[in-house]
Amino acid sequence: MSPVKSVCFIGAGFVGGPSGAVLALKNPDVEVSVVDLSETRIAAWNSDALPIYEPGLLPVVKEARDAEVRPQNLFFTTDVRGTIKRADIVFICVNTPTKTAGIGAGKAPNMAYFESATRMIAAEAEKDTIIVEKSTVPCRTAANMREILKAIGKPGLNFEILSNPEFLAEGTAVADLMRPDRILIGSMQTPSGLEAAEVLADLYGSWVPKENILKTNIWSSELAKLAANALLAQRISSINALSAICEATGADVGEIAYAAGLDTRIGSRMLQASVGFGGSCFRKDVLNLSYMAETLHLPEVAAYWQSVVAINEWQKSRFTKRIISTLYGTLTGKKIAVYGFSYKKNTADTRESAAISVVKDLIAEQAKVCIYDPQVTKAQIWEELDINGCHIDDVEKYVSIAKNPYDCASESHAVIVLTEWDEFSNKDVVPAKKTGNENPQQLLPSPVASEHSSDNEMEMTPADRSARERYNPKTALKHAEAQNAKVDWEQIFDIMERPAFVFDGRRVIDAGKLQRLGFRVECIGRGNSFQ
Ligand code: NAD
Ligand code: UDX
Repeated sequence: MSPVKSVCFIGAGFVGGPSGAVLALKNPDVEVSVVDLSETRIAAWNSDALPIYEPGLLPVVKEARDAEVRPQNLFFTTDVRGTIKRADIVFICVNTPTKTAGIGAGKAPNMAYFESATRMIAAEAEKDTIIVEKSTVPCRTAANMREILKAIGKPGLNFEILSNPEFLAEGTAVADLMRPDRILIGSMQTPSGLEAAEVLADLYGSWVPKENILKTNIWSSELAKLAANALLAQRISSINALSAICEATGADVGEIAYAAGLDTRIGSRMLQASVGFGGSCFRKDVLNLSYMAETLHLPEVAAYWQSVVAINEWQKSRFTKRIISTLYGTLTGKKIAVYGFSYKKNTADTRESAAISVVKDLIAEQAKVCIYDPQVTKAQIWEELDINGCHIDDVEKYVSIAKNPYDCASESHAVIVLTEWDEFSNKDVVPAKKTGNENPQQLLPSPVASEHSSDNEMEMTPADRSARERYNPKTALKHAEAQNAKVDWEQIFDIMERPAFVFDGRRVIDAGKLQRLGFRVECIGRGNSFQ
């Protein structure tokens, strides 16, 4: 196979943009084009206000894109068709959200964008092309692609399909791409399939050590991505299930995670008990795996993975129930301050955030909910509550937004911490991610993340539209500028009703310190009524 000259990434989202940029940076002789149907998104990628905020991403993009320090080899364009024609390798990085209607609604992935990209490649390619599944897809998607390519592709052309799933996490995308734990490449075990896998491995080989590049059969690779996310989510649901036992017995889930995590077979990461995992991937991918098991007539397997999501839902509602019972069984008319609405710290991304469920429950209890989040806008909170079934009249009646934590907490009966923003924590240590030696008691989810979207020309769901709104360069800049001061809890105590409660859904509060100020503190994974 002749050397790779031109590569195309379809989908300039969270995965396609950073992946294309790092590949271009590390392969200066290869022309890398990242294409999308959205003109505004592409315009943002061509500016200094990137459409997503990721630490360290702008310098990477600029170096490959701007031809200041070296020849330009990174291009962002809406010319999807023209770029496909030139490409030796096409990565499909389009969104695969959970279906919202039809068979499998709420569980199966919506493969419409992915199929549309495949059809476009088939229609436009004018030479032999390697097509790479980078989106997270169900196992055996490559078989469907093969049929489409065969039916539509120009006669005589050879299409090799590879699976090369992406494992980056929001907020650490650049670090994850620069130093991946592994690169996974799945191919058909034919001479041409294995040769295509070698070609892709060579591109990664320019910065990833050979021993970290794993080649498997294509079905294993497709399934490995779903497996990885399911196993990560399962750890969180496991520690959250244990957190309930801790609250009922006097054990402390931080100490449990620490003690268990010291066993090298278990390891310490992804064991931070919380009000529940959120984000665009875990729920979607676990449900995808569960649905796949269902369609393969493996109901026990489907139920097992479904339970990971069920525990997550239960953890969220369990937390609200604890708030209600602690506040003497009624929230009616009480002001409740909610600290944090994003699904993890350092991001304005609110998709699947635990805060959505908790706030919905508080509204149902007729509490006066006041939300403060350093990055999430009122419009986004309103839209998220709307998408998730809150009546907008109730939102207007019961929810307000505060510009700072003090206005938020003023005259409230309780502060509820739902996102682990550093400014809320009164603990002394702010942990870093991925040292490999984290103390699980101090472990916090990874820093800083961003937003996604899907405003392609296909039919858009409300969730898609909402995601589009999150692609806001202004918000991204706000992230970079944000240097919020720590909350002064003494001052907060002064302005709250008595008794003043804090409910910590993220374990960022040193309860002892707050109790000495006079607060009553309730923390995930720790009961208060034990000696
Ligand atoms: P995203 O919504 O941020 O971006 C997808 C982009 O694809 C959008 O900009 C959309 O306009 C574009 N698109 C859709 N159809 C298109 C078409 N036919 N032609 C051109 N552009 C098209 O999604 P994302 O977060 O980048 O995720 C992409 C895939 O990667 C998903 O399958 C996701 O599960 C997976 N993934 C995501 C992450 C993450 O952290 N976001 C991590 C690993 C894997
Ligand atoms: C995840 C995977 O980590 C990544 O490999 C994959 O490619 C995409 O999905 P992401 O969703 O961006 O990444 O963030 P992650 O740090 O995994 O956190 C997901 C959710 O779990 C967040 O709500 C976070 O707060 C929560 N979490 C994480 C916990 O509750 N406890 C933990 O120990 C870790």
